[in-house]
Amino acid sequence: MPTAIQDLLQRPMRSLRVSLTDRCNLRCQYCMPEDHYVWLPREDILAFEEIATLIEMFTNLGVERVRLTGGEPLLRHDLKRLVRMISGMGRIRDLSLTTNGLLLARHARTLREAGLHRITISLDTLRASRFYGLTRSPMHQAVLDGLRAAREAGFDPIKINSVIVRGVNDDEIPHLIEFGRQTGAIVRFIEYMDVGGATRWTPDKVVTRAEMLAIIERAFGLCSLVAQGGDARTTDVRSRAPAEEFVLRDGTMFGIISSTTQPFCRSCDRSRLTTDGLWFLCLYAASGVDLKKLLRGGVTREAMERVIRETWERREDRGAEARSEMSGRGILFSVEALRNNPHQEMHTRGG
Ligand code: GTP
Ligand code: 5AD
Ligand code: SF4
Repeated sequence: MPTAIQDLLQRPMRSLRVSLTDRCNLRCQYCMPEDHYVWLPREDILAFEEIATLIEMFTNLGVERVRLTGGEPLLRHDLKRLVRMISGMGRIRDLSLTTNGLLLARHARTLREAGLHRITISLDTLRASRFYGLTRSPMHQAVLDGLRAAREAGFDPIKINSVIVRGVNDDEIPHLIEFGRQTGAIVRFIEYMDVGGATRWTPDKVVTRAEMLAIIERAFGLCSLVAQGGDARTTDVRSRAPAEEFVLRDGTMFGIISSTTQPFCRSCDRSRLTTDGLWFLCLYAASGVDLKKLLRGGVTREAMERVIRETWERREDRGAEARSEMSGRGILFSVEALRNNPHQEMHTRGG
């Protein structure tokens, strides 16, 4: 394996999140709450071959973990073909997918056969009526069916991401843990983040890691921290993942991702590629490097890898930490700013 290149804070470049589409078939209130969105032009969307070419360049510089995200990645036609291309790359040790689960029942088996290693499903509520309020979709059962299909296809363990918003679903934390126990999934509770797209974010809506732990210990008794920074149990690749993993007395595992109150920027080894080929060094970065332009402009592989290397070696982003040090923290971008620059959206940058 090539030694991973390092940034100015000695953080290696190991993980790449690839957004496959800016579109989504849900309208989660913490991510896509508006009535109208400006979509990226179709001709700008990278073809699978282009994505694979870019990922290979990243693997030459140290990337060994790839997560496919969106928008909703299962909206991308024939996704299994891309999964096959990436899973066939010798240097990829961990290939995962983040999905809202709506279309998963029909794709889980083929994705598994194509070589996908892991799946994370976003699910914030176990109640169909609340799901409708949160996502504007009546398809709650389809997500549950998707989870079952993923299990039947052999994905193990499956992670569930639940963004907890005060007054919205904080009363479901114990139910979600029970659900994880019943289904054999690891539920991870995520602090509501002030990312682009979260235009209704206010600090008082954030249920902190400490509050979540207090709720869980009231319901289930003491729990203990088993892994900091992620998923020692779920992948053999040393992860710099944002989740802390806990275990209840009966052995049930769950995670907390406290990106808002306790950011993990100091060990962040990830960057993001948008579906139109912009490369962002941080979730909160103001702008990205246009790799599509270089790729389509016929720049050689060596020259592109040099651009990636030199850019990473200048990196000193620590966006979430910088936000947490702010006083009077409010929304990151206004609705107008997001309309003028859809690249600021979480659903474009990859959730
Ligand atoms: P694993 O590969 O399973 O460890 O995934 P992960 O722990 O990286 O988590 P996942 O990709 O499912 O992301 C879960 C949540 O963590 C996201 O929804 C965000 O809330 C938060 N998160 C993910 N990436 C970043 C990031 O780059 N910066 C910050 N600050 N938070 C992030
Ligand atoms: N806060 C926290 N997580 C978010 N996501 C999107 N928007 C936010 C936000 N404002 C993440 C969630 C979701 C994934 C697709 O993106 O984890 O499950
Ligand atoms: Fe990494 Fe930026 Fe997220 Fe911090 S905010 S963890 S530096 S991507």
